[in-house]
Amino acid sequence: MMDSGIVMNTTTLTEIELNTELAIGTSALNLWYGDFQALYDINLEIKQGLVTSMIGPSGCGKSTFLRSVNRINERLGYVSIDGSIDVFGNNIYNPEVELVQVRKQVGMVLQRSNPLPTSIRENILFGHKLHNRDKKYSRDDEDEIVEESLQQVLLWDKVKDHLKRKATELSLEEQQKLCIARLLPVKPRILLMDEPCSALDPKGTAAVEELIWELCGKYSILIVTHNMAQARRASEECIFMLMGKVIEHTDTADMFVTPQHQETADYIEGRYG
Ligand SMILES: Nc1ncnc2c1ncn2[C@@H]1O[C@H](COP(=O)(O)OP(=O)(O)OP(=O)(O)O)[C@@H](O)[C@H]1O
Ligand SMILES: [Mg+2]
Repeated sequence: MMDSGIVMNTTTLTEIELNTELAIGTSALNLWYGDFQALYDINLEIKQGLVTSMIGPSGCGKSTFLRSVNRINERLGYVSIDGSIDVFGNNIYNPEVELVQVRKQVGMVLQRSNPLPTSIRENILFGHKLHNRDKKYSRDDEDEIVEESLQQVLLWDKVKDHLKRKATELSLEEQQKLCIARLLPVKPRILLMDEPCSALDPKGTAAVEELIWELCGKYSILIVTHNMAQARRASEECIFMLMGKVIEHTDTADMFVTPQHQETADYIEGRYG
């Protein structure tokens, strides 16, 4: 139904996705901010339909990696990248791939919720309208999109009678859920979350974690966290990074019980960072 009308030059991402079980695959990915190398030879295979957490000390390159996957880094003129990042088997740095198509597939949630200063309803419809500028939707269609998205983030019952309320008046936890909800009408296949719970209290963190589990399977989720307990509870696989390199990527349960590298053990035991 809500096809954006944007056709890729080669095969569409949906077709490719059927041929691969990887949501994100990187090969020899290196990234520099000017002269400073922030990512070194990253070779990752992030599986479709799982929640994968990414952990590591401050400055190790977690946000840089996430920003590379939806091509936000390239806005900075002094960033250079080599190697490749495949999203469902399609190299997103291939010149034939359109940025808008990447953004449609890959949604990102930031550390601080950033709702638009408009109503809850308009926040949900914003991305959808942007990606469907050439189409007309009835009020009923839009109502359905708004309800479905808010249902998915477990916010519908709370806000259904206040859809015209300003999104910025919601609690931080609700704002963060709204920021996830507004990605959904665009039908992304991957959700990148950069420390989505760091501004929340324990109750808000628990609620957003519950939501992440609710979404798991429908979306491939890559979540950065400094909270070891959260990584342990909320993810199936875990990636440990240190100084721009991936040290270990394995089942979360295994990583926390039997880490394969001394650096991983040191980090999860809180010896640095
Ligand atoms: N826009 C930028 N310009 C120059 N250097 C940057 C930029 N963004 C990040 N860096 C540098 O790249 C390295 C990796 O930073 P990044 O923000 O990806 O780390 P991080 O693992 O997300 O850290 P944190 O846990 O503190 O969020 C750091 O040394 C940082 O100073
Ligand atoms: Mg970061």
